[in-house]
Amino acid sequence: MFSLNKNPVGIFDSGVGGLTVFAEVKKALPDESVFYLGDTARVPYGSKSVDVVKHYSLANVNLLTALGVKAVVVACNTASAAAVSFLQERFPNLEIIGVIEPVVEYLLTRPELKRIGVIGTNTTILSGAYQKALMRGNKDLDISAKACPLFVHLVEEGLFEGKITEMAIDMYLSEMRKNPPDALVLGCTHYPMLRNVISDYFGGRVEILDTAFYTARKLAAVLLENGMTNCGGNIEGDRFFVTDDPNSFKATAGLFLGCNVDNVFHI
Ligand code: DGL
Repeated sequence: MFSLNKNPVGIFDSGVGGLTVFAEVKKALPDESVFYLGDTARVPYGSKSVDVVKHYSLANVNLLTALGVKAVVVACNTASAAAVSFLQERFPNLEIIGVIEPVVEYLLTRPELKRIGVIGTNTTILSGAYQKALMRGNKDLDISAKACPLFVHLVEEGLFEGKITEMAIDMYLSEMRKNPPDALVLGCTHYPMLRNVISDYFGGRVEILDTAFYTARKLAAVLLENGMTNCGGNIEGDRFFVTDDPNSFKATAGLFLGCNVDNVFHI
């Protein structure tokens, strides 16, 4: 028997991209309220140093805990790469889940996938967080990693396909395509919006892994294990908090969710 726990789940991202994680969490856990925090005043994180991203991430978790969340999902890959273990040490009584570990755990259950590609922001790829986590699980993996910083901007401009997007994909991934991986991890919140064009670029022969899906499943498992699942219906409802202008968040959020979000508050 699980105790009722109606407190919301917290999700934070550098901005709007974490809505890909929000959407998967809502699919996996429709009865949970979600408080989403987008640090839109300080986005992008993907070009900032690890120390700066840690500092921002700490502020985000402080805000979410003040709002009463029962668990935190670090939706931002850059923040997951830079700050998850630091945050877990700082908040030992709070469940904090990043986006890297869940997809790595999944990949390790698929030993036939030996050649793994990872794409993400500059800071994520330079941190080596994905590469290290994969190698810890299986040192025989053949990993190729590539930073694709322009993808974030393309997605935020709604360029999910077309010539410019195809040129950017070719610029970053032509080397990888010469010797394609068995699976490619989309290690950035925005990249799921490019999933189809990236898959087509590899001729549909590379398994594309979206970290948001595995993270939502992990969150569901963690809530269940800890008796924190909301069994009594959605009480609070979802809310969105941003550190800059709510209106620009609302406009871009529509691109990600395919519907309008209204309850956006400046924090
Ligand atoms: N949310 C970031 C990530 O997943 C991408 C945007 C940014 O650079 O802040 O790495």
